[in-house]
Amino acid sequence: MARRNASGPRPRPDVLVVGGGLIGLLTARELALAGARVEVVDDRQEGAASPNAAGMIAPIAESIADQAFARLSIRSRDLWRDLAPTLERESGTSIDYDDSGSLLPVLDPEGRKVLDRIRARALDLGEAARDLDRAELAELVPDLRPGIEEALLLPGEHRVDNRLAATAAAAALRQRNVVLHRATVQRVVEASGEVVTSGNGFECAAGAVVVCGGAWTPQVHGLPALPIVPVKGQMIAFDRVDWPFTGAIRTPAFYAVRRAGGRLLIGASVEHAGFDLSLSDEVGADLATGAAALLPTLKDREPVEHWAGLRPGTPDPWPIVGRLSERLHVAAGHFRNGILLAPLTARMIAPLVLDQQPGDPRLAIPEVMHPGRFAAGERLSS
Ligand code: GLY
Repeated sequence: MARRNASGPRPRPDVLVVGGGLIGLLTARELALAGARVEVVDDRQEGAASPNAAGMIAPIAESIADQAFARLSIRSRDLWRDLAPTLERESGTSIDYDDSGSLLPVLDPEGRKVLDRIRARALDLGEAARDLDRAELAELVPDLRPGIEEALLLPGEHRVDNRLAATAAAAALRQRNVVLHRATVQRVVEASGEVVTSGNGFECAAGAVVVCGGAWTPQVHGLPALPIVPVKGQMIAFDRVDWPFTGAIRTPAFYAVRRAGGRLLIGASVEHAGFDLSLSDEVGADLATGAAALLPTLKDREPVEHWAGLRPGTPDPWPIVGRLSERLHVAAGHFRNGILLAPLTARMIAPLVLDQQPGDPRLAIPEVMHPGRFAAGERLSS
């Protein structure tokens, strides 16, 4: 069936992906790889998580829940290993992928106990964890404040430039002739064998829809109630950082993540402020002071950037991934782990949308992610 929109008549897509963040783009890529005719619609919301995140792929240090969550995170990290060079090849652009690890300095006796638990947790999951002494540390991060004698290195943790990764994923889709629309989706209606999606001049009838709208997912009318809320994170960035270590440094108070070209991102606040994206000088100063206490060379420098993004939070630590009705699906609510979990989410949701069995049983969507787990969504299928 053909319908008319701003770009003229076109064949009906098999799947429309609502949301062009990294999860939506990688989901569209998986669907296209499986042979589906897929389109993406996105309105580039200010504060969207994908361009505003830190890009950590940290299944141990950033994993907020239990070992099951960490295991899934490790699976997604493993997918990133192959995806990163593939996306670079498909798009012809670098995504600044880095696998040097996460460095967790020991700041005090209490911190040592925390790191002991993290080390035990990593080893229990079959992940590497290495203790570094002052000499090794000084070689990796010469700017580290004197008095820090030890750190834990998690070599299995990676990081990526999330902005470059999303740009590359979009370019890779264009290479496959996937149409990317710019519009705000307001409504989805499922009827007579298709889903009609509409909003500000856009209309599309597709065989199925996947909503990957991050914190804005509940604003799409026609979806069942989904308990996803924005959780604001403010970050700052410094330039002219050139230590040999190009991964992420983490303390209980903040993280510092390198980028190619000498940029260092410091994050992040965790604020329940609705969709407010205003920047607080106080939060910016706290991040800068915290970072300078660990890295004294930052003390007299001005941050070159200060921004805020909205993580999509859910009532439990898990995202919401699965079927809402016969032709309507969701992959959203990844809170602090959207960049990390994007490849796995895409691999999980794509077969479900296409009514296929996942080729690998480890790609089945675990029940803890099903939309039907929330009271308001009990009538939903998984
Ligand atoms: N994943 C980092 C953050 O949410 O702050």
